[in-house]
Amino acid sequence: MTRDTDILVVEDSPTQAELTRNILEGENYRVFLAESGAKALQMLKERRFNVILSDIEMPEMNGYEFCRKVKEDPATKDIPLILLTRLSDPGDIITGLECGADNFVTKPFKPDYLLSWIKHHLINIELRKTMGAQAGLEFFFGGKKHFLASDRMQILDILLSTYEAAVQKNRELRNVQKDLELLNSTLEAKVRERTEHLSREIKTRTKAEEDLRAASQREDMVLRTLPMAFFYAKPEKGGLTLEWVSEGMAKVSGFTPGEYLAAPDLWFSRVHPEDKEKIRSEIGCLAPGRTINTEFRWMTKEGEYRWVLASATVMDGRALGLVLDISERKALELQYRQAQKMEAVGRLAGGIAHDFNNLLTAIEGYTGFLLKSLAPDDKRREDVVEIEKAAQSAATLTRQLLTFSRQQVFKPQVIDCNAAVRDTRNMMKRLIGENITLEINLAKEECRIKADPGQLEQIIMNLIVNARDAMPNGGKVTIKTETMELSERYCRMHMEVRPGPYVMLMVSDTGCGISPEALPHIFEPFYTTKEAGKGTGLGLPTVYGVVKQSGGNIYVYSEPGLGTTFKIYLPRATEDIAAAQAPAPVELRGAETILLVEDDDGVRGFALRALRESGYTVLEARNAEEGLEICERNIGKISLVLSDTIMPGMNGHELYEIISKRCPGMKVIFMSGYIDSELANIRLTVDNLAFLQKPVSADDLVKKVREVLDSPATVKS
Ligand SMILES: Nc1ncnc2c1ncn2[C@@H]1O[C@H](COP(=O)(O)OP(=O)(O)OP(=O)(O)O)[C@@H](O)[C@H]1O
Ligand SMILES: [Mg+2]
Repeated sequence: MTRDTDILVVEDSPTQAELTRNILEGENYRVFLAESGAKALQMLKERRFNVILSDIEMPEMNGYEFCRKVKEDPATKDIPLILLTRLSDPGDIITGLECGADNFVTKPFKPDYLLSWIKHHLINIELRKTMGAQAGLEFFFGGKKHFLASDRMQILDILLSTYEAAVQKNRELRNVQKDLELLNSTLEAKVRERTEHLSREIKTRTKAEEDLRAASQREDMVLRTLPMAFFYAKPEKGGLTLEWVSEGMAKVSGFTPGEYLAAPDLWFSRVHPEDKEKIRSEIGCLAPGRTINTEFRWMTKEGEYRWVLASATVMDGRALGLVLDISERKALELQYRQAQKMEAVGRLAGGIAHDFNNLLTAIEGYTGFLLKSLAPDDKRREDVVEIEKAAQSAATLTRQLLTFSRQQVFKPQVIDCNAAVRDTRNMMKRLIGENITLEINLAKEECRIKADPGQLEQIIMNLIVNARDAMPNGGKVTIKTETMELSERYCRMHMEVRPGPYVMLMVSDTGCGISPEALPHIFEPFYTTKEAGKGTGLGLPTVYGVVKQSGGNIYVYSEPGLGTTFKIYLPRATEDIAAAQAPAPVELRGAETILLVEDDDGVRGFALRALRESGYTVLEARNAEEGLEICERNIGKISLVLSDTIMPGMNGHELYEIISKRCPGMKVIFMSGYIDSELANIRLTVDNLAFLQKPVSADDLVKKVREVLDSPATVKS
């Protein structure tokens, strides 16, 4: 049937026209294409078609107009006309019906659908021929009255096609809706996933930002609190122009970064004049990748010189560096060098004094015997007295040396420093004379210290005499005592000082002052600036030795032309002040047996004679080993061991350890030119330790021997 069916396709779009032609020709219809309504009308005049398919939207004459023209023409009005529509508005259908269209097929159409309608019309047309035409139909839609002149079949077709189109559209819509729902859920999942990812990313980013902020705060804090400053500078014209300075600079120098950046010459202008040349040459050596380290004195905003270490490295044409305050280290280095020097000098002085003491003991001892043996009117007595005087002066000197080397016998007691100053007041006044004022400012509270009272007096006297000598034209000496706590920080800056409570004794004068060249030497023995015969240079070394032996420290501050201040810090004592004891009179003679151990022949001979003359039996030994042998042979007979401390071979202390095991409670007197460290230890463990400081006179020797023999016990049980 299709073979003889001619279909006219009215379509302005060539693509759409070709598509429709393919579908129709596939069913063996003969297809005629017209690109406009006018052309189609023309073609309708020329030949008869079985079905017309017309697009609606066409230029010049649209599909409705074309349809109306076809349906008005009696020659063509029976040809079924299918409008191809997008069906976007129900009004389209009404308009289509009004103009007599037989059907609507919505675009895009499925081929089968279009073909089924074509077939349907071809059959219907036959049927209609037999049933005849109907009047038409009147109805309202969209507030308007419409009249359809078509027969009922046409209306039915139209409604069916419209309904089908709607159903199809609905199905499509449902599919689209499903697709949309699917799309929506995928979208939602995607959004959820993306949101989670984003929130994770935000969290990570927030954490990173927080970390960064914390790191930058830490860095800022470090930069602010470190006792060093960082800088960034441009090397130019043989100098460095600062471009950035860290906040820490204010801590080091007192100047803010802003002040340095505002005045490019400021940093160099504060360098100590003696260090400027060194800095210039160091800057001259700056080269890429090379680091320079230099120490120099730098004046702070307050005008005080501080030692700083500056380090710089050149990178990308800029010098990056740091400045560190090393004043504390420098001060400690200086103190350390000074302490080492004093230690070495002390050892030397102590060694010499020790040998001298043995000689002087013999000289003084035998001079004493000589004097006793000479008749009161003997002319030679004067000579011997001169020898004795010289020996005594020499002994005083050696004692001072021993005090300096801290090897002097030390009898510490708890005393009030204020009382010691008060007690020496009259003596001080006599020493300084009329034209020097003495001002004494004592602390209100008690200034308890542990020191040897005789030595403390010696310290005050030595300092007062020095002050007097520094003020030949008069002036003022101030003595002051104060109690204080020395802090950790202070102790870090001062060697050998432990934090805690201290008593400060200050002696200050308005004299000539000490030159910077002399200052490092004033505590050395025999260093004096006084003319020959006026000073021995042993005053300050004595002070130094006593202070050190008492666990204290001494500092000196001096400005040439203005005066000098000595400050002595002694640890504050907590114990009660010792009551003054009057020495009990002792009987000097005795008949006990004494073991005398002494390697120096002169000293041994002198002691032997002094003791024998006082009635004692003396067993003599030249060293500890010999002493031990004698002791073994005379157990039960010996009442006292009188021994030197330092001897070749076994020392006095070791000897006493052995003897005291064999003979518990054995009394002992150690005799020495100085206190060795071992003896200092025994002093802590042995009660009432008897000790004789060489040189010793015969009187002192027998007095001590009697005293010890009469004492209840020497060794603590
Ligand atoms: N108060 C002071 N003012 C100025 N210079 C001082 C002062 N005290 C000490 N000196 C200097 O220190 C040097 C050493 O002092 P020290 O007391 O050790 O010896 P001396 O006074 O010279 O002699 P000595 O005390 O043995 O009689 C002095 O020669 C002096 O140059
Ligand atoms: Mg002096």
